[in-house]
Amino acid sequence: MRIVVTGAGGLLGKKIVKVFSNYEVIGVYYSSKPETPNFLQLNLSDLKEIKKIGDLSPDVIIHAAALTDVDKCEKQPELARLLNVEVTKEIAKLSKETDSFLVYVSTDYVFDGEKGNYREDDKPNPINVYGRTKLEGEEMVKKYADKYLIVRTSTPYGSNPASGKDNFALWLLKKLKNREEIGVVTDQITSPTLNTNFALMLRESVERKLEGILHLTDASQISRFEFAITLAKVFGLSESLIKPVTSDLMRWLAKRPKNSSLNVSMASAILSQKPMTVEKALKLLKEEVESGG
Ligand SMILES: NC(=O)c1ccc[n+]([C@@H]2O[C@H](COP(=O)([O-])OP(=O)(O)OC[C@H]3O[C@@H](n4cnc5c(N)ncnc54)[C@H](OP(=O)(O)O)[C@@H]3O)[C@@H](O)[C@H]2O)c1
Repeated sequence: MRIVVTGAGGLLGKKIVKVFSNYEVIGVYYSSKPETPNFLQLNLSDLKEIKKIGDLSPDVIIHAAALTDVDKCEKQPELARLLNVEVTKEIAKLSKETDSFLVYVSTDYVFDGEKGNYREDDKPNPINVYGRTKLEGEEMVKKYADKYLIVRTSTPYGSNPASGKDNFALWLLKKLKNREEIGVVTDQITSPTLNTNFALMLRESVERKLEGILHLTDASQISRFEFAITLAKVFGLSESLIKPVTSDLMRWLAKRPKNSSLNVSMASAILSQKPMTVEKALKLLKEEVESGG
């Protein structure tokens, strides 16, 4: 099976490439070179370049590239539309032309966060540009691709920086190890997901060619504050450095959903690789950090 992964140097893409390494994987990247022997540098926003993915004759395309900076999307909606909607449309069309199976990585931010515990068939209602453009990306996949799986995930984290950035867990670890006091929000609930477990659940979904929409997150629905406290406990760091704050103190440009946690009953029921509790996922993160990733 030949698998092309876009965003292959990103937080999720980097781990997907690693976990799928028993297959022939080609990593598509722009500025963050992936850790795979086969790669292709492409600026996806140059839409005519996308046909080069078709030249690779993929059996599966995992489209994980996106403009993921929520505030940048709000500031530059045209760029967000180009990367999250138009690029996805071209990739969806290409998957049909090349008869390949398309996986589109989407987000909990397609929901408004008023309810939480969203199931796959709950109605999306995004409240910021990022969420709106990712939802339109889903619609492009449904419209133009033939065989596809849309996987929605939430607050991914992992043991290594990716695309030149730390993730929330690595940021917390740095601050706590330096004994810096940090404010962490109590009123934003998501389903934090270890990138390794996401990639393992994704691999099983691809091997079984599951189609439709599937929520692929870890199992705990918690605030960033609760996540930070659990991380401190698991890593033996001082919980007292973590101060509860509310999101009205954050100078965020884009609105964030209050509770965008995802219901993972379907993934739990059908996959052998299960969504994990945050305690179990953070213990795995600790092992990864200690062994260098
Ligand atoms: N991060 C989250 O909180 C979150 C939550 C739920 C869902 N998701 C979704 O999960 C997927 C992966 O996100 P992530 O967390 O791994 O984000 P990430 O680390 O920011 O990775 C995104 C990737 O997109 C690539 N990309 C952006 N513009 C590109 C362009 N013009 N040409 C080629 N590649 C381009 C980047 O490539 P280079 O680095 O090589 O430039 C980067 O590796 C995205 O679809 C995102 O919407 C993310």
